[in-house]
Amino acid sequence: MAHVIGIDSSTTATKTVLVDAEGTVVGVASATYDAETPFPLWSEQHPDLWWEATQSSIRSVLGSSGVDPGDVTAVGLTGQMHGLTLLDESGTPLRKAILWNDQRTAAECDEIRERVGRDRLIGITGNDALTGFTAPKILWVRNHEPEVYARARHALLPKDYVRLRLTGKYATDRAGGGGTILFDHAARTWSEDILDALDIPREWMPPTFEGPEITGRVTATAAGATGLREGTPVVAGGGDQAANAVGTGAVDPGIVTASLGTSGVVFAATAEPTLDRNGSVHAFPHAVPERWHLMGVTLAAAGSLAWLRDTVAPDASFADLSAEADTVAPGSEGLVFLPYLSGERTPHPDPLARGAFIGLTVRHTRAHLVRAVMEGVAFSLRDVLEVMVEAGVPRPSQIRISGGGAQSAAWRQILADVLAAEIATVNTTEGAAFGAALLAAVGAGLQPTVAAAVDTWIRVVDTTPVGAAEQRYEGLYEIYRGLYPTLRDTMHALSRRD
Ligand code: XUL
Repeated sequence: MAHVIGIDSSTTATKTVLVDAEGTVVGVASATYDAETPFPLWSEQHPDLWWEATQSSIRSVLGSSGVDPGDVTAVGLTGQMHGLTLLDESGTPLRKAILWNDQRTAAECDEIRERVGRDRLIGITGNDALTGFTAPKILWVRNHEPEVYARARHALLPKDYVRLRLTGKYATDRAGGGGTILFDHAARTWSEDILDALDIPREWMPPTFEGPEITGRVTATAAGATGLREGTPVVAGGGDQAANAVGTGAVDPGIVTASLGTSGVVFAATAEPTLDRNGSVHAFPHAVPERWHLMGVTLAAAGSLAWLRDTVAPDASFADLSAEADTVAPGSEGLVFLPYLSGERTPHPDPLARGAFIGLTVRHTRAHLVRAVMEGVAFSLRDVLEVMVEAGVPRPSQIRISGGGAQSAAWRQILADVLAAEIATVNTTEGAAFGAALLAAVGAGLQPTVAAAVDTWIRVVDTTPVGAAEQRYEGLYEIYRGLYPTLRDTMHALSRRD
């Protein structure tokens, strides 16, 4: 039977999923790695970590499933968005990649607005300059590491470095390309105007492809390294948020998704190159031809709970923490958490925002801290949802949830009550990697279109209705909303003393 592979090079691991022609996952393997924070606000990773983890996870999935590599008809790629991988003439990384959650580029974001003009920037790219995006990272290297910049010949996104190692080809997908803010949003490819205004060489940028299009084939060297068959086609795939939307069935307008990964995202597909003139939400092409999307990102979602676990409950599993949260009443007895542990993006584009617990009393236990973190992340997603609705997305009555945090029934109920929408889960749990595999299935001709593949492979399996706590959370959300403006100056003063 024909199979496809999806590979997700995320911030914490590379995950490879093997899927058969009916959309059933027959194997999953992942290999983890760390990101480095050598200075406050920085976040870096060496590109070779992704390639090593890709090789071992492909080998492991092929070995454990027993599927013949000759039956793998295509590979799809996805991964963390926005990261800058600068390569020399021979394709060798010149420095560690600067990741999506790196916040060092505030000055370069100002430089981009000055060079292009903010309204023009939003009009062409669909987005304001934010520290996470790729373009300011390129300017940062030019401003701070001119010797590296002088040797650079290629700028790739993380998953496209994996593509280079697999196929020898420089290429990117349209959804990931949009996240560089060097794209013409409507034209779905590089904007000569923006590249010229920023003085970034056009020839550094790879050719762009729609998600299911074939970008190259596995080389003999990569076949030897991974166990794949030489010549296996590799499709463009998509940035992780767009691929995750494909993997949870959000390819047409009307379905809104939210993900609880390291970051948290609210995502809505559009049939036109819709954008928000205020630049409050991100607007990128979708990984699906003739579709675009709007999304907003809170930077530390499940990442906030992972931080709490590592810091105060290293021996507890996430299931333990979820059960603890269930022992505390909605509202955590007046304790509110601000999840700005990595600064924030939507709706407060502020690298110097900081996290906080507000309202602590002697009555609060670890269980209260856990519940407050889950609630704070839900409030932050509500903030994102509100700006999406202001940008024109119809307020959803149902939201499809995915990501590691979605496994917690307690967190799903909190989300239903805070977002005032039914929370649905689908039969697929491998998110972006599954979406990349689905795009590969379309590229390989196993499915005629992305929409057809979604119809046959993905369905809602569980729903959590809005519960009795909704009213209570409405009042708390108002308090939460007031905290960032109240504390902003304090957060900034503290960040200067880091
Ligand atoms: C999306 C974003 C993050 C990363 C996480 O804009 O920055 O979701 O893609 O991998």
